[in-house]
This record gives sequence, structure tokens and C-alpha cells, in this order.
Amino acid sequence: MPIYKLFVLPGDGIGPEVMAEVEKIAAFFTKEGTARFEIEKGLVGGAAYDANGTAISEADMARAAAADAILLAAVGGPKWDGVPYDVRPEAGLLRLRKDFNLFANLRPAICYPALAGASSLKRELVDGLDLMIVRELTGGVYFGEPKEIVDLGKGQKRAVDTQVYETYEIERIGRIAFELARKRRNKVTSSEKHNVMKSGVLWRDVMIDLHKREYPDVQLEHMLADALGMQLVRRPKQFDVIVTDNLFGDMLSDVAAMLTGSLGMLPSASIGEVNAKTGRRKALYEPVHGSAPDIAGKGLANPIAMIGSFGMALRYSFGLGELADRIEAAIAGVLAKGYRTVDIKGDAAKSVSTGEMGDAILAELRG
Ligand code: IPM
Ligand code: MN
Repeated sequence: MPIYKLFVLPGDGIGPEVMAEVEKIAAFFTKEGTARFEIEKGLVGGAAYDANGTAISEADMARAAAADAILLAAVGGPKWDGVPYDVRPEAGLLRLRKDFNLFANLRPAICYPALAGASSLKRELVDGLDLMIVRELTGGVYFGEPKEIVDLGKGQKRAVDTQVYETYEIERIGRIAFELARKRRNKVTSSEKHNVMKSGVLWRDVMIDLHKREYPDVQLEHMLADALGMQLVRRPKQFDVIVTDNLFGDMLSDVAAMLTGSLGMLPSASIGEVNAKTGRRKALYEPVHGSAPDIAGKGLANPIAMIGSFGMALRYSFGLGELADRIEAAIAGVLAKGYRTVDIKGDAAKSVSTGEMGDAILAELRG
């Protein structure tokens, strides 16, 4: 049986707590003999800054490069508000994405029937929701140059961020979206703001060409990003695959997360190009939620997004779709049995801790 090498980066805030639940599950699968995982741990974000003065060390970058998949929980927190910009916690995550060319971020938003009541929207709007946001992750305003604050004198400064996309970047993220759609409900909604942005004009043109050339069998529609935000809370079930740029994707995926009941529910996969030698894509798996410093260390965090991200690693990096299905079924199972962390408590009588939720999912996996 192959050994899968996981490089685990718990990071900051609730990160270590939710990651501990994934480690339990990986250990269980190894013991059960279904798959063998070898876990190596590193530091990222504020934790790395406190230890080494950087947001991720060169040694940990090398370990990440050698791993079969990277799991990251969360970075950041008010403790590091004052640290220099280039070593702030988020810089560690952005470096991982950029150095490994993880250009495609898959953020599935699924509303489990048991949680339809926990959403801030009416049950009938979200019950059965199953959409996928494909967010471009290594371009756009996150990385465009110049990116600076210039002192203009006389107390005035000018801040610049640069939104920039090239044809190949739009094409490769478009292909990911169209390929996913073919395995789902065959519909792609491409989103930008071509009414005010040149990068939006190019984005739309490239998507239209790509669709005509390679994916005429898939339904393609275009929606301005502001309108898409509105439609996501108005009638979210109209969407199948949404493809959009780095910044719009960041915002829209937080909105989509809340539709499912809580930010604590949404997993994600960040994947790169296929490696010609191994036939595999480099990949990092991370929940959509952040480090939630306000509840850190209290056992209140919901581990489901992190566990779901591990499930995505099994599916996309290791071809262990059946194990991923088992994890998803176990999550649905515990939710149906009424297990709730505080973020998805709704009207439930009581909530369970991070560890209790992890244990319940484990028990469900044991069957
Ligand atoms: C996310 C996060 C990150 C982002 C932060 C932590 C840099 O919000 O993964 O959605 O903005 O991409
Ligand atoms: Mn975000």
C-alpha cells in the first residue's frame, strides 16, 4: 500500500484545534489499513513568525515541496497586527500559493439538509444547495505589481494595488471550471466587472473564446460580480460552477459559505498544473474560514471545514474518492443525528466541542 505524505500546517488561532481532528481521522485510516498516511508538521503564519521571524521558513517550504499534499488550517490574528507587512501571517499562505503555482481554488458550498435551518436564508432557498466556486488564486490584485504605498509629501500618500490578468491565466482557470461542470450539472457562470475594468473585458472575451473552442457542450453565462453577489443570496440554487478572479472569489466564497449554515462548514482545495513527471497536481487543502482568534483555544471551533478539506485531499490528490465519500457521509451522518458545534447550533438544545464533533465523525466512520 502506498504511503501518502501529508505536510500539516495548523497555523494560528483555532487552526491547531481543527487540525487535531484531521490527525485523528488520518491515524484511524492508517490503523484501519484503508490508507497509510505519514504526517509531518510545520509552522506557518503568526506561529512561524513567533518561532523564526518569518511567515514560513525555507525548511518548511522544502518540506511542503516534498509532500504529496499540504494541509493548512488558518493564519493570522490581532497578535501580529504590528509585524512588518512582508512577514505578516497571511504572507506565509500567499507564498505557498504563489511558489507552488496553486492557481485554482475549488470552494464547494453544499448545504446539508440537517443544516438548512442554520442558514441565515430561508430553508427552501438553501436546502439541497450544491455549488462550486472556482477562484483564480495566483493572479489579480493579490499579486499584481506595483503594490505599494508612496509618500507624496505634505501628509499625503498614494496606495496602489494592481489588478492584472493575462490570457493564459484566464484560460487555465476557465478549463478547470468547464471540466468540473462536465462532471456536475454542466453549467458555468463566469463573473467579472467588464463594465468598469479592462481585466474584466479580457476575462469575458477569453472565456467566450475558450468556450467556443473547447467546451461548446457546456452552458456558459456571464454575470457581473456585484449582481452575482446579489443572486447568491437571492436564488443560490441557480448556480452550478462559478468561475471568477482572486478578489471577487475571496468575497463571494465567504457569502456562499454562510448559505450553508456557517463559515465553519466550507472546505477548499488549491491546485496547480499537472506535473509532467508524476502526473499529479501540487495541492494545498484549507478551510475557507479564518483563524477566529475570538474563540481560539476554547474548544468551540467547528472542525467540519478542515475535515472536509482532508476529504478533498483524498479525492483530488490521492484518487481515494471512496474514502472521501465516507468522510462526507460521516459528516452528513453526525449532522443528521443532531451533533452541532456552537456556530451551527441554531435552535438545538446543546452544542458539542471541537473534539466531540471530531470524535462523533470518527465513530460514524467506524460504523
Ligand atoms: C482566504 C483568506 C485569505 C485570502 C487570507 C487569509 C490571505 O481570506 O483563503 O479566503 O484572502 O485569500
Ligand atoms: Mn477569504
